Amino acid sequence: MIVSAQSPILLFDSGFGGLSVLAAVRETLPDAPVIYAADLAGLPYGEKTEAEIAARVAGLLGRLAERYQPRLICIACNTASTIALGMVRDVLEIPIVGTVPAIKPAAALTKTGVIGLLGTAATIRQGYVDDLEAKFATDKKLIRYAAPELVHAAELLLRGGTPDPAIFEQVANDLRSKAGDAEIDTVVLACTHFPLLEAQLRAAFGQEVRFVDGAAGIAHRVAHLTQDQAFERDGPGLAIVTGPVDQTLAHALQPYGLSVIERL
Ligand code: DGL
Repeated sequence: MIVSAQSPILLFDSGFGGLSVLAAVRETLPDAPVIYAADLAGLPYGEKTEAEIAARVAGLLGRLAERYQPRLICIACNTASTIALGMVRDVLEIPIVGTVPAIKPAAALTKTGVIGLLGTAATIRQGYVDDLEAKFATDKKLIRYAAPELVHAAELLLRGGTPDPAIFEQVANDLRSKAGDAEIDTVVLACTHFPLLEAQLRAAFGQEVRFVDGAAGIAHRVAHLTQDQAFERDGPGLAIVTGPVDQTLAHALQPYGLSVIERL
């Protein structure tokens, strides 16, 4: 199939966590036209039921695909991917790249054999995560922890706010106490919002813990699936949001090359 050089790659998240994935995609494919869609009216997905998330994601991606004719969709959200990836792939006829917890690379990297997994409440209870654990980490200890407060902290930071440092200390302490005597040396950032808080998480966890996320792997996969295609950016990057656009957003999205914001 011939793909138009202007056909965008569409990245989708509940909010702006997917910018951590966009940054990696931009680095790998600097000429790719990109549309970033954020379901702000549905944020946070992590506190919703599976049925609610599946319905929102499938409905919105269907509308976005029809309107913008992307060459590929990247679901830059662990929660949406672990719940709705299969379903979306069944209904849309374009390649869909998901974001799933980076348990495989974490299992290869850990020395102590103890891995922390920070995600949303919805992500950490998914069978998808059970399957990844069974496939790649049966000989490791995987300690799952839901940290919805980090989603809000990332959205706040992006808009120029300062999250309370106590939030990060609390997450690090709680995850470590769930591990008991076992020493966590690797933490999977299994929510795309969390790499945006790497500096704050680093301060709370200390230098010796390694963080792993899927952004580079996703960018690699997107590049692979589009390797024979031409790219031409014929205008500014577009952000589409559901829900209200606040004033700070335009400024926050500028460094990511998203200079036009539209409501869906
Ligand atoms: N960024 C999303 C993820 O990767 C979740 C944020 C939310 O709770 O909406 O899981």
